[in-house]
Amino acid sequence: MPNINPKSTNSSTKSKHKTTASIDFRDNISQCMPLDVIEVLHQDHAKVEDLFFQYRFLEDSKHKKQLVEEILQELYVHATVEEELVYPQIRESYDEEDVQDMMDEADTEHHVAKIVMAELAVMKPSDDHYDAKVTVLGELVKHHVGEEEKEMFKKIKESKMDLEKLGEEVLKRKQELKEESTPSDIAKIWKELKGFRTL
Ligand SMILES: [Fe+2]
Ligand SMILES: [Fe+2]
Repeated sequence: MPNINPKSTNSSTKSKHKTTASIDFRDNISQCMPLDVIEVLHQDHAKVEDLFFQYRFLEDSKHKKQLVEEILQELYVHATVEEELVYPQIRESYDEEDVQDMMDEADTEHHVAKIVMAELAVMKPSDDHYDAKVTVLGELVKHHVGEEEKEMFKKIKESKMDLEKLGEEVLKRKQELKEESTPSDIAKIWKELKGFRTL
């Protein structure tokens, strides 16, 4: 089972990518300044988009594997905080069927992304279709992020949620998830996928 802990990512790889380093710096700033939940989620979206962009320029298996492990970790943490803290509050804030439908679609997009994530977690870059799966995962995430930023963020802003309080809770939970993450997270993803099918 591969290690998806970002702490295992080769630091020399990170130092080669200026954009990622700048986003890490922004993460540090966010620990000192109050950020509303929209800004926290947007920063995550931008970071993962940058990681997918970096993948296009990699050729050797070692760096591909390291970058994919970082992408999987970022997506796992981001999807988990949204599902635990953000999505339920949106559902509770609106009775309207169109909002509930929007959240059903968001859940389903997470589900589809997790199928590809779970496959990539046990694959090697030399395996058939590895690059294609990274590309398709990037496209799925891009579509999902586009809908969240266009439609879901609007609903969050129009709700009565305390956006800064929720932003703090999301940052705290993200930190916990990053500290406790182990390779067994892939097993958690599979368990969730199994549970989802019974809905
Ligand atoms: Fe999401
Ligand atoms: Fe998101």
